[in-house]
Amino acid sequence: MELRLDGKVALVTGGSRGIGLQIARVYAEAGAKLMITSRKAEACEKAAASIDGEVAWAPSNVGKLDDAERVIDATLDRFGALDILVNNAATNPYAGPAIDVDLPRWEKTISVNLTAPMFWTQLAWRRAMKKGGGVVINLSSVGGLATSPILGVYDVTKAALIHLTMQLAAELAPQVRVNAIAPGLIKTDFARVLWDEGRGEKVAKAYPLGRLGETQDIAGAALFLASESGSWITGQTLVLDGGGLVAFKTVA
Ligand SMILES: NC(=O)c1ccc[n+]([C@@H]2O[C@H](COP(=O)([O-])OP(=O)(O)OC[C@H]3O[C@@H](n4cnc5c(N)ncnc54)[C@H](OP(=O)(O)O)[C@@H]3O)[C@@H](O)[C@H]2O)c1
Repeated sequence: MELRLDGKVALVTGGSRGIGLQIARVYAEAGAKLMITSRKAEACEKAAASIDGEVAWAPSNVGKLDDAERVIDATLDRFGALDILVNNAATNPYAGPAIDVDLPRWEKTISVNLTAPMFWTQLAWRRAMKKGGGVVINLSSVGGLATSPILGVYDVTKAALIHLTMQLAAELAPQVRVNAIAPGLIKTDFARVLWDEGRGEKVAKAYPLGRLGETQDIAGAALFLASESGSWITGQTLVLDGGGLVAFKTVA
């Protein structure tokens, strides 16, 4: 079966760089029309111009419900449909033991990483997918399946996102499939502190497949899940981590 998205309309949050931009590129190559969004208009415009295909952009802060309404309406106005929603934007404002987090950073992490996927999906369902069907893909993390000395707050949101994926998959079937992707360490700005300045080579050795992830590794899986080839998959979390999680479990 071909991995094609011809005629489909996809909305990618956090589509201006990193994993989101690569997913948008791959979807456009597969024939989809794209709406990309992130907070910075200039970055969205530049990203859209770098993608070959029919691509629109609109700035938004995913944590603001008004922004979600505006971008989803803009997608429907421009393309007349919304078939694929990729909840990709996330934040990690706090590094340290979860027990020491302050309330503003706890609330910001929950708002962007968990509340936003919930309400962007609710709007997509109510305004388009309930009638027209569709696919939702949530960007979780292997952190949602493990613990960490410094990323615990972020990991809690990613674990909850895995559960939200299962819950919404059960509720929205058969019209809408909802799946998650849980990447290991991917070489993007978001995770730069973990792989830059030679740190990446050390971490790569801990991965059975001997390297860190690239955005293309995630985009390929996002294409598979959105396409007809993934049409009997819902409620699942696809771990893409070069085998890191199983190796860790073996050692532990
Ligand atoms: N990189 C990794 O190692 C890794 C591992 C596991 C999971 N993930 C997950 O993969 C996803 C993408 O991460 P990435 O590494 O590609 O990150 P990235 O390179 O930092 O890109 C993040 C994107 O999200 C946008 N964004 C951030 N906060 C936003 C907000 N409040 N509202 C709207 N847009 C916002 C950013 O643009 P603006 O700054 O312009 O808003 C940017 O387009 C995230 O869900 C992340 O948790 C990443």
